Amino acid sequence: MKDIIESIKELKNKRDAVILAHYYVNDSVQAIADYVGDSYYLSKLAVETPHETVLLCGVRFMGESVKILNPNKTVIMPDLSADCPMAHMVNEEKIKQVKNKFEDLAVVCYINSTAKIKALSNVCVTSSNALQIVKSLPQKNIFFIPDNNLGRYIAHLLPEKNFIFNEGFCHVHTKMNKDNVGKLKKLHPEAKVLVHPECTMDVIELADYVGSTSGIINYAKKNSDNSFIVCTEHGINYELKKENPEKQFYFTEEIPTCIDMKKITLKNIEEALKTMENKIELDEDLRIKAEKALKKMHELAE
Ligand code: 13P
Ligand code: SF4
Repeated sequence: MKDIIESIKELKNKRDAVILAHYYVNDSVQAIADYVGDSYYLSKLAVETPHETVLLCGVRFMGESVKILNPNKTVIMPDLSADCPMAHMVNEEKIKQVKNKFEDLAVVCYINSTAKIKALSNVCVTSSNALQIVKSLPQKNIFFIPDNNLGRYIAHLLPEKNFIFNEGFCHVHTKMNKDNVGKLKKLHPEAKVLVHPECTMDVIELADYVGSTSGIINYAKKNSDNSFIVCTEHGINYELKKENPEKQFYFTEEIPTCIDMKKITLKNIEEALKTMENKIELDEDLRIKAEKALKKMHELAE
């Protein structure tokens, strides 16, 4: 049987495809990807890639963002059912209600959201640029959707703004709490605590550094410390170990796992490139509206 990695390489050439992957996907997938990054980096690559086909290894909103920004490319995903539950934790009705209540309002939408929600928002953000972007907005009132935890973290850094929160959350990051992280800290008191802002404030309060997946990886690499407690999805361990083989990384006891990210395998990557069936398709009106919010993010994050 032909080696699956060889087969993926051949199909990639045949389809003129680039493979983009998020840090939370399986190690074997990160190993064969052309680029691995956080949500912001992946959305930037989406605009810059010269390839005809983009194979996005991650969850649905990431594939959708590539298609929104790149309507002329073919965007495929190894498994279209890989989805971020938080992306669906706000609805049109709720946005309408808040818009009716405040005149001077910006709807700020975390990139972990559907195209429909992006289309109703003023601007998108990711965890790597949310602070900078919200700070630069002229509006005083900020409706931060869908993630309550990222919203609260940014709000506590920007007391001059009035935040309206939504009830969305990430089921992976909210399993970490001050007890299980505190337990790790007792076992490894020397370790620096690195936290993704989708965690709750009680975990963020224990952090030496708070940032996106890329931010966490850069911090661990540049910092002279040798051990780190990492509060985010375990897939990040692949890049952390690759870049810092001599350093120690500790995760909470119930290993934080995003089952949707783990749906991406070498097998379904090969299949997607063979059949070209799992295409992301979007209604053009919706795409144009959602594109505005994503482009605004790129403009303000520069
Ligand atoms: P990053 O933008 O930090 O990679 O986060 C994406 C995500 O889904 C976190 O759960
Ligand atoms: Fe969504 Fe959480 Fe998975 Fe990130 S880790 S994709 S926020 S469910």
